[in-house]
Amino acid sequence: MSTGSCPIDHSGAAAACPVTAPVSGAAGFDPFGEAYQADPAGSLRWSRDGEPVFYSPELGYWVVTRYEDVKAVFRDNVLFSPSIALEKITPVCEEATETLARYGYAMDRTLVNEDEPAHMARRRALIDPFTPARLAHHEPMVRRLAREYVDSFADAGKADLVDDMFWEVTLTVALHFLGVPEEDMATLRKYSIAHTVNTWGRPSRDEQVAVAEAVGKFWQFAGTVLDKIRRDPSGPGWMPYSIRLQREMPEVITDSYLHSMMMAGIVAAHETTANAAANAVKVLLENRTVWEEICADPSLIPYAVEECLRHNGSVAAWRRLATADTEVGGVPIPRGAKLLIVNASANHDERHFEHADEFDLRRDNAADHLTFGYGSHQCMGKNLARMELQIFLEELTRRLPHLELAGDQQITYLPNTSFRGPDHLWVQWDPAANPERTDPAVLLRQHPVRIGEPPKRALPRRVVVEEITREAEGVLRLRLADPVGRPLPKWSPGAHVDLEVGGLSRQYSLCGDPGDSAYEVAVLREGAGRGGSRYIHDELAPGDTLNLRGPRNHFRLDPGARRYVFVAGGIGITPIAAMADHVRAAGGDYEIHYCGRDRSTMALLARLERTHGDRLVPHVGSEGTRLDAEHLLATPVPGTLVYACGPERLLSALDTATRHWPEDSLRVEHFTAATGPLDPDGEHEFDVELADSGRTIRVPAGNTVLGALREAGVEIASDCEEGLCGSCQVTVLAGEVDHRDRVLTKAERAVHNRMMTCCSRAAGDRLTLGL
Ligand code: HEM
Ligand code: FES
Repeated sequence: MSTGSCPIDHSGAAAACPVTAPVSGAAGFDPFGEAYQADPAGSLRWSRDGEPVFYSPELGYWVVTRYEDVKAVFRDNVLFSPSIALEKITPVCEEATETLARYGYAMDRTLVNEDEPAHMARRRALIDPFTPARLAHHEPMVRRLAREYVDSFADAGKADLVDDMFWEVTLTVALHFLGVPEEDMATLRKYSIAHTVNTWGRPSRDEQVAVAEAVGKFWQFAGTVLDKIRRDPSGPGWMPYSIRLQREMPEVITDSYLHSMMMAGIVAAHETTANAAANAVKVLLENRTVWEEICADPSLIPYAVEECLRHNGSVAAWRRLATADTEVGGVPIPRGAKLLIVNASANHDERHFEHADEFDLRRDNAADHLTFGYGSHQCMGKNLARMELQIFLEELTRRLPHLELAGDQQITYLPNTSFRGPDHLWVQWDPAANPERTDPAVLLRQHPVRIGEPPKRALPRRVVVEEITREAEGVLRLRLADPVGRPLPKWSPGAHVDLEVGGLSRQYSLCGDPGDSAYEVAVLREGAGRGGSRYIHDELAPGDTLNLRGPRNHFRLDPGARRYVFVAGGIGITPIAAMADHVRAAGGDYEIHYCGRDRSTMALLARLERTHGDRLVPHVGSEGTRLDAEHLLATPVPGTLVYACGPERLLSALDTATRHWPEDSLRVEHFTAATGPLDPDGEHEFDVELADSGRTIRVPAGNTVLGALREAGVEIASDCEEGLCGSCQVTVLAGEVDHRDRVLTKAERAVHNRMMTCCSRAAGDRLTLGL
């Protein structure tokens, strides 16, 4: 479909037309073209950087590409209805429509394209087969299949992992999960690809009719299989479970839902996962050191899976419909507008993921990726997919660690907006070097699967202390490098790392050159501190190794300002120095105000004076040149941002001094990682009793039930941690809940028999949970 022009009436409007804006790439955006297929995130970098929400005349959709905007659209499934998620993106010709009608094709609402309140009622009813305990039952089946397929080609020296393994295994797992009778699996296999082309692809006129034939047959056969299951719904699987439930709640689990899900469920569980597996192996083999690391240590595999899903996910974009006039990322969006929200682009947004284009096994926020969507529709099958991916990677890395991508292949993708994975992935190896030939025990080894995302805490990386220099009185500068000389991940100004020192984890801002392959931090000796800085000052020596987590950035420099005022107090100069260096190198306008007690205590001062000359204004207590924040910031300057880091006293003086500035002009460094919306002053502490284990856990005013349970070693799944998705639900056996989620209905809340642990709390002083 091509609408040819922008749908907004610009007569008299101040805003530039999103299509015809001079630098716009919107007019050239082609989601069926090679560039988008091969690298959706890379092909939309121009958009993330300059025009993050734009109208595509080619598609007739508004395209959203930045992380925060994509997440905001996913989050609000009322303002942004999912009803068009399965609509055909390329309208079909009459002949194809007639063909579909001949087969009685009536694909309707399932879950993914259902509006509220019907969606949540159905999702809640049907979620049980996806709980970790139920998923665990599938592990032996997935492993058996993965082994059989690897057996079939291990001695060949060459395989197309898509055709020879992933396509088949994920389909068989999907059919088992759904509870399809064995004898019908072969027929269903034949049809599933047609649905993707039909829904998200751009088939030619002739292809449309052929695709419609296949889709029609798929639909009819899905109905036949469903009827068979109906006759005996006592077996295992999600469809028999849904049919049994239909007897209790026919208005929630409708006939139309069951028939549609019988077909859509296969696609949801199959192609997404087959593609994800092929994308994962491809990106891992392209990052050989990571591949070798996971071959050597399979406990790293869950982390690798998550980073693969982020870096090279299999759902590139999803769709929503605006139900009212609104704004996304500051761009007006009219009611009725269709949105293509590009998860793959969001997953490479530097504003959320530090050094986003690099593959980093130790990334602390890889699981924030949006490949499974977000909020109340977030993928229900994500942990089944994670399990499959872990098992595939474990079998391949253990048995074929010498695997490499075949060099002579041209990787192609099925042109469509959303489902992304190579058509074929040829790999090769020397069978004579298969470890199992010399050590048959390799065949039997296996590593336990982790159900769910990897632990929240990132894997540490080992670094060696290359150099320790006295930077100022009481301040040491450490230079930290990879022990075998590999460059450490890139970082952006304002980023920090966590260092494990003397049994403690402390955060330090990076203050060196972001282009350097090693990191530099400056550490003030804090007598009253928890002991981390004392350890660094008194014990640490060059050549020692440390565990480091990160880098991550909660203090990003907004590149859009016309001028920057940097204010630092004491050791707070470290992030500020990196920011000022960056703005200087980019030719920006800025000034630095650096406050300290005495010059001898001011770290980096000499270097800053050399680099920044009279842009640097030292405010030195012993010289009587203290900073007068009110005076400095007396007149708000449009387009100016104030970045500050330092002691609380300085930050609150700046807060007062900028009260009359435009909102958000002052940006300060927050070192506490999880600020969250919880206000401990407004909360009370209470106990949760775990009925199954007989334990009682205290939930302090400053923590969530989820956080307190995790700290006590009780694993609870979670996703949004904002009360939107239902993942963290637990059963409540006694006590009154103060519900704060958006998942449960008023009636469900009233019975107090379940709660979302990420946000809801006890109304009284005790809850008993079914854990
Ligand atoms: C929904 C991706 C595997 C079942 C979704 C959505 C995405 C997605 C993007 C829409 C989310 C939203 O609107 O916020 C993926 C990916 C997979 C995968 C990338 C593999 C790597 C699976 C598997 C199943 C499954 C194995 C098993 C049955 C579902 C269901 C929904 C869904 C039932 C609808 C949830 C709802 O609307 O409440 N998936 N999926 N998916 N997925 Fe998956
Ligand atoms: Fe999503 Fe709690 S409701 S994690």
